[in-house]
Amino acid sequence: DTSGTPWGHFGDPPGTPRESFGDTSGTPWGRSGGLELLRALLSRTLGLGGDRAEPVLDELSLAGVGRFIKSDRCKNIVCMVGAGISTSAGIPDFRSPGTGLYSNLQSYNLPYPEAIFEIGFFKKHPEPFFALARELYPGQFKPTVCHYFMRLLQDKGLLLRCYTQNIDTLERVAGLDPELLVEAHGTFFTSHCLRASCRQSYSLAWMRERIFSSLVPKCEKCQGLVKPDIVFFGENLPSRFFALLESTLLIIMGTSLQVQPFASLISRVPTNTPRLLINKEKTGQSDPLMSLMGFGGMDFDSDKAYRDVAWLGDCDSGCLALAELLGWKEELEELVQREHAAIDAKGGDRDGGIPQKPQGDEDKDGGSPKKSLGDEGKAQSEPKKGLGSKAKAEKDPKKPQGGDKDKAENDPEKSRGGQ
Ligand code: APR
Repeated sequence: DTSGTPWGHFGDPPGTPRESFGDTSGTPWGRSGGLELLRALLSRTLGLGGDRAEPVLDELSLAGVGRFIKSDRCKNIVCMVGAGISTSAGIPDFRSPGTGLYSNLQSYNLPYPEAIFEIGFFKKHPEPFFALARELYPGQFKPTVCHYFMRLLQDKGLLLRCYTQNIDTLERVAGLDPELLVEAHGTFFTSHCLRASCRQSYSLAWMRERIFSSLVPKCEKCQGLVKPDIVFFGENLPSRFFALLESTLLIIMGTSLQVQPFASLISRVPTNTPRLLINKEKTGQSDPLMSLMGFGGMDFDSDKAYRDVAWLGDCDSGCLALAELLGWKEELEELVQREHAAIDAKGGDRDGGIPQKPQGDEDKDGGSPKKSLGDEGKAQSEPKKGLGSKAKAEKDPKKPQGGDKDKAENDPEKSRGGQ
């Protein structure tokens, strides 16, 4: 019985005619049905004679990607982003040596750096997280050039979806439509009481007030512990996360691709979809074990490379360079100036995201507007389901984790979200 696994509907006994899978169009395996996908996966990962995708870029370079975006073949772009796109907004990333968050948690006396984002540790010792939140809380929410580049993609009808690992809500402040946004690791934008029988929601303003008053936020209804809706290690990712992507271009920015299942997204686009990395360092490259499991990484350099491009440098500079190739540079610079001026005029938006619109008494605390909750909101507002055979999402234990060398890197149980 595979009903609890991602292979769920494959519960039929081997040899069952494919038709019995019925209509799989609504499933993660799409119209082709599981067997076809399995065949494609094996041929791709084990090189079993599968037809190799036709290269799409005329050159494996930023200019090649620019020409592709300008062509009529580039219909929908998916962006995958991480903390590196917010560092120029003054928010540290996690693993950059020295400046990354995980290198600066000594004062919290943690058993290992990632404990601060672990749900089990949080429930027993919430203080370190809230102390860190106070320290990290952006003085103001000012999105970067990179955020506004994605806003331009959206305004030009090219953005299919933005998957972000960031919890700083800067994608919302930059004007990305919440319907196009998957906040894979949740967001500070809303908070909920952890008691399954309560789950009262609270707004960012409510949470900010308690963070800065050094109080551990307690529910006003049941005195339970209230946690921002960020996804801690060991918690579920939003259901929208796992929808299959039919994108014609993947742009990955500002992430070390160390955390699963987010990192596996790079392998969930069609094999002929070009993938552009804009990052200070190469990440997400092919790894024999991951390739075997069908999560083939990116190949920038080998003689088999045919679709992956790495532009190494600062995210903002990379986006400006791409915008220039597209003839959008002035437009992007004007957008950034206009939006930053508007934020400054408001005295620096300390509450990020969309202004609170109280909805009914349930949200009398200024809970977030229903619209912006979307699926991810539903996924998080439901009491945590039994995770059963959840495929534990985990950091890639083979790769060194940032910050102190610690047990975390050898701890296969370290997980961030899951099925
Ligand atoms: N321009 C380009 N790249 C940058 C910049 C910048 N200005 N600043 C940092 N980077 C790069 C770093 O070199 C690194 O490769 O961005 C990446 C940031 O990686 P991480 O610090 O690991 O952040 P992220 O990938 O978002 O972490 C993923 O780990 O612990 C969890 O909750 C955490 O969601 C986070 C997840």
